[in-house]
Amino acid sequence: MKLRPATLKDLDLLQRWDEQPHVIESDPNDDWDWTNELGLNPDWREQLIAEVDGRPIGFIQIIDPREEETHYWGDCEPNLRAIDIWIGGEEDLGKGFGGEMMRQAIERCFANPNVTAILIDPLESNTDARRFYERIGFEEVGPRRFGEDDCMVYRLERAGWLNSNSRKDD
Ligand SMILES: CC(C)(COP(=O)(O)OP(=O)(O)OC[C@H]1O[C@@H](n2cnc3c(N)ncnc32)[C@H](O)[C@@H]1OP(=O)(O)O)[C@@H](O)C(=O)NCCC(=O)NCCS
Repeated sequence: MKLRPATLKDLDLLQRWDEQPHVIESDPNDDWDWTNELGLNPDWREQLIAEVDGRPIGFIQIIDPREEETHYWGDCEPNLRAIDIWIGGEEDLGKGFGGEMMRQAIERCFANPNVTAILIDPLESNTDARRFYERIGFEEVGPRRFGEDDCMVYRLERAGWLNSNSRKDD
């Protein structure tokens, strides 16, 4: 699996994925405004397409929540990252692709030695995704309402990630 930057050439793909019921259910109230956003390249954001053997299977976004321009996350400490992820096609769910996407994205975040922790905000009702994040090592911070969405915020500390990964290598 490879993560590569999303570009305007991915517009149709991302719009098609946005219509998938499992994608809508996980993020019912956001408009990602792909037509505009794919043409931008702010230094506080990476929008990435995951490809397996050259076939696009999912999307992942990494932001610096302190610098992100809408201040979705409110006032944040410096040196954090926040991730959004989805698998595009229903047929590709539950095959381990999401786990590998997260592993690569987390490594990408912590490759910057200043980054201390990563945040995610699944809907409180998205129990499948919450189990997925908990298995990776994210720890519950607490419930938080973002706009119309009741979410559960999770956080993965650099030290927690490094520890759990060095244990796996033992
Ligand atoms: C969450 C998501 C990225 C995980 O990727 P994945 O490739 O399906 O996950 P993996 O195969 O690596 O791991 C399987 C685990 O993912 C979780 N999962 C979440 N949604 C799932 C789904 N619709 N189908 C199967 N597994 C799902 C489960 O916890 C599953 O573990 P289980 O065996 O305990 O049920 C993916 O399921 C997805 O895109 N879901 C819809 C969008 C979404 O919820 N995104 C997160 C928003 S915060």
